[in-house]
Amino acid sequence: MRLDLSVSWLGLTMTNPLYNASGVMCRSVEELEQVRHSAAGAVISKSCTLQPREGNPEPRYCATLLGSINSMGLPNAGFDYYLDYARGYPYEAGKPLFLSLSGMSLQDNLQMLASLAEQYLPCIPEVNLSCPNLPGKPQLGYDPAACLASLQAMSDVYPGVFGVKLPPYFDPVHFDQMAGVLNAFPRLRFVTCINSIGNGLVIDPERECVVIKPKDGLGGLGGAYVLPTALANVREFVRRLPDKHVVGCGGISSGREAFMHILAGATAVQIGTCLYEEGEGAFARILQELAMLMEAKGYQCLADFRGKLKTL
Ligand code: SIN
Repeated sequence: MRLDLSVSWLGLTMTNPLYNASGVMCRSVEELEQVRHSAAGAVISKSCTLQPREGNPEPRYCATLLGSINSMGLPNAGFDYYLDYARGYPYEAGKPLFLSLSGMSLQDNLQMLASLAEQYLPCIPEVNLSCPNLPGKPQLGYDPAACLASLQAMSDVYPGVFGVKLPPYFDPVHFDQMAGVLNAFPRLRFVTCINSIGNGLVIDPERECVVIKPKDGLGGLGGAYVLPTALANVREFVRRLPDKHVVGCGGISSGREAFMHILAGATAVQIGTCLYEEGEGAFARILQELAMLMEAKGYQCLADFRGKLKTL
């Protein structure tokens, strides 16, 4: 049986639905090129700010048995660096490029989006509304009124299609509220669910100590810890955003979890913690596992099962 794992969306084609989560293997040109040369179907850059940032003090990432905790604090090389990469990117090779933007203020986001609009590049912005690791700065995604105002201003300066990266939500009323906001913007064509579950605390009982330095040990959780929350967010936003795509992110470490995200309705899926731990070989492995699972179930393409999760 011939399998077709391709994804066509946003006017683009990906040979397969896997790519990196912003933040992992995408801070430097070398890392971005590693993803581009891997089996991934697309590439996304590290969430950038207008000016370069060092990020939070180390240690700021720690792998655990069930995933990871991080408080990176947006270390990045600055918008111009990623814009330069986007200018030289070989789009014709058929591996789309997404640029993640996470300005320190709305004004910074507007400046980056306006500058991107002037370039007429085929890369697509994913605006990060959900970094949990900036001391004193709450996640915008948890303030629907502020999101509405920001998205209105962003839509006004940016004439193309764009997406947003959302924090996890935990209550149906909050899904409804956010969906109401997001549905007001037709050019907001996709949402990525989820960013890490913010402000968890991992404790090392031997050392009787936290495992990362920033925020006295608080950090965003990723990996297996977050899979059910990520799946719930994907499914709930797919139901509420009928004209948009949902990108699944959270807890994917094999073809099985990628399958679950797509079954919940994800158009494409991003790999975070697993990519950090395993390196870019993770894409080929997960892809092969997904293909084998599809074959065993008799599915020939992703549309055969996308969004077809059954309820009891
Ligand atoms: C970070 O750099 O702190 C992670 C970014 C994010 O979670 O949005």
